[in-house]
Amino acid sequence: MNRSHRHSIASAALVLLLGCSPAIAGLTRKHKVSPTPAPPATPHASSQLEDKKLNERVDALLAQMTLPEKIGQLSQFTAGSTITGPTGQKLDFDAMLPKGEIGSLFNVTGAKETNHYQHIAVEQSRLHIPLLFGLDVIHGHRTTFPVPLAMAASFDPDIVQQACRVAGTEARQDGINWVFSPMVDISRDARWGRIVESAGEDPYLGSAIARAYIRGYQQGDLSKSDSVAASVKHFAAYGAAEAGRDYNTTDMSEIRLRQVYLPPYKAAVDEGAATVMSAFNALNGVPETANPFTLTKILRKEWGFDGMVVSDYGAVGELMKHGIAGDGATAAQKALTAGVDMDMESNLYHSRLAGLVESGKVPMSVVDEAVRRVLRVKFAMGLFEHPYTDENLPPYQPTPEKRGLAKKAAEESFVLLKNEAVPGTGRLLPLASDLKSVALIGPLADDAEDMIGSWGAQGDAANTKTLRGALADKLGTKLTYVKGTDILSTDSSGFAAAVAAAKNADLVILALGEAGSMTGEASSRAHLTLPGNQQQLMQAVTAAGKPVVLVLFDGRPTAIPWAATHVPAILEAWFPGVEAGTALVSVLTGEVNPAGKLPVEFPYSVGQEPLYLAQLPTGRPAGDADLSHPPTNSEEKYLSRYIDAPNAPVYPFGWGLSYAQFTYSNVKIEHTGGTSKDVGEITVGVDVKNISSVPGVEVAQLYLHNTVASVSQPVRELKGFHRIFLQPGESQHVEFKLHFDDLAFYNVDVQRVVEPGTFDVYVGGSSKADKAGSFSVLE
Ligand code: NOJ
Repeated sequence: MNRSHRHSIASAALVLLLGCSPAIAGLTRKHKVSPTPAPPATPHASSQLEDKKLNERVDALLAQMTLPEKIGQLSQFTAGSTITGPTGQKLDFDAMLPKGEIGSLFNVTGAKETNHYQHIAVEQSRLHIPLLFGLDVIHGHRTTFPVPLAMAASFDPDIVQQACRVAGTEARQDGINWVFSPMVDISRDARWGRIVESAGEDPYLGSAIARAYIRGYQQGDLSKSDSVAASVKHFAAYGAAEAGRDYNTTDMSEIRLRQVYLPPYKAAVDEGAATVMSAFNALNGVPETANPFTLTKILRKEWGFDGMVVSDYGAVGELMKHGIAGDGATAAQKALTAGVDMDMESNLYHSRLAGLVESGKVPMSVVDEAVRRVLRVKFAMGLFEHPYTDENLPPYQPTPEKRGLAKKAAEESFVLLKNEAVPGTGRLLPLASDLKSVALIGPLADDAEDMIGSWGAQGDAANTKTLRGALADKLGTKLTYVKGTDILSTDSSGFAAAVAAAKNADLVILALGEAGSMTGEASSRAHLTLPGNQQQLMQAVTAAGKPVVLVLFDGRPTAIPWAATHVPAILEAWFPGVEAGTALVSVLTGEVNPAGKLPVEFPYSVGQEPLYLAQLPTGRPAGDADLSHPPTNSEEKYLSRYIDAPNAPVYPFGWGLSYAQFTYSNVKIEHTGGTSKDVGEITVGVDVKNISSVPGVEVAQLYLHNTVASVSQPVRELKGFHRIFLQPGESQHVEFKLHFDDLAFYNVDVQRVVEPGTFDVYVGGSSKADKAGSFSVLE
């Protein structure tokens, strides 16, 4: 039934100005228009795993396997020199492989190194079953791209997909056929070190990025010689670790789990992800490594996942520390029966499963099903036909194409947080071409290692251009560099030289932030301020009175309220990867116009965490303080707010300036269908115009607020974005299409419903967009 009605246009002339710019020359770079994430492309790896012939091969092989050989397929061990978890056990892989006792190795890299083990597995074991070789390929393999949080700031799934394509190809040449990526954990707490590996706080953006990762790694076809199997991790809700402390417990309603945390995993599974990694954390008291609710009920039964689940590192053994297993055998039993097919590094399936099967505690059918899932992936990847990696390929070359893509990705990831006019100077960015002297100050200015960020895989700092190196290429003798301090230092003896350099320069660029190693696994922080004495350095240098541009390097939102007030220009650079310096210089000089948007909110203070846009309303909202900065100074005491900090972030989700200015006008909301039974399609159209004299990319964003529902709904949620390139004066009509999924939520019966009611619509260049209108869903 297609009952159709139209809603009137609530705001015909919404005009938003974002960013400002002096006229600059040379901004000619064309940026691609990325539409709002499209439904997944076909074919899917999941359909390969379901293939009838493939499954016949799996069953035929399974029928020949002994119990130890089956258990071997379910056992994975770390080998090689990369260390990604607690080490200890020394196993003789060369002796285990001929007996078929290993299904996969990880952390061993290189064609020769992986072939060594593969030759033994394939040639010396009875059934010749090839190994899967896993590795944490997180943001590039040898060519290092920006860290995942930065990649998400591009709001450009296309570039994520392209980066994963490069990473997958490079990994395959190094013998890796399985990447432990993407991490799609929704991350709303900046204390959590692993926020750097995520796409940030938002399920809509996170889902779009998750799909892009899978497409890039798997190409819709696992059998391609340059495809790698992806591992969606960490299932589930690892990002909600209490107090942001890594590995800590998570506790949440099923509504929140399904509405906020599960969508990106589901998106990746729908896109055909071949494997899933279970998470370390307990969810509502049940460790995810032994959680039948998430691993079996949701992942397998509801989502129909046919791939394989691997535990996280040593996590089967950790079930004992979690206190849900008194011994290793119980841990193995609980993990396998809950749905963990492969034991990463605990050595408990290997050592205990046979006994469990023989005693009848674990049915053979459960083992068989797990083995099937592992074998399906191996067959789908064509490993039985092509188990080895060519050892004669030329050594890795950071080719101009790859470096070009890494540079583009970095440029797209930078977020211009602030760019205010300085009296007598104008806007600091892009840098004026007639600057006579620039002082570059700070511990991150010439730190190649930290440009790689955490999980650098095989990235090499030696290939990395720093900001100092790239600026020196551009400015020559006009550039003075003073380190000032070290990242974590409290020694201020370098301040005097830094201040002197600032005084002698026309302009100062401060390169401050955290070290790559302060982010990632086991790197949670209880403080979100600039580490060491960098805040003091910044204040001392700023007091020198020269215009200051802050370039911030970090893998999480850093609390920079002082800088937000006192420093006129701030560029969030994250950890930009191998082309850090060159990409930064392109953007700082205006050769490329920044367009990144924040995938996470930036707090005033750690006490605001977890801090995110899509909060539920309270019964005592603090008015403006909920959404804007600075907070209102209401006389009313009994409001949901802090007495010593705003509720609002310093910089909100979706925020990011450009050297261009964009207006939004002629918002039109049209609705076909329009009932809760037949939601139909809502089209929100808007004209976006570049009213500046420079070309630029704008990420037009659409947010919704479901005003009244049976369950409180977030104050604002992202439901669409378009990345558009506009020449000066150019206008483009942008349409957002909304359907059932964009309006639906989980009710108290945990059913996904659309209820009759009114939805407010916000369209603009950030989550601070003004209300553009509303539409209603009828009974
Ligand atoms: C532990 C981490 O949680 C996970 O993300 C990673 O893939 C494994 N270690 C393997 O290194």
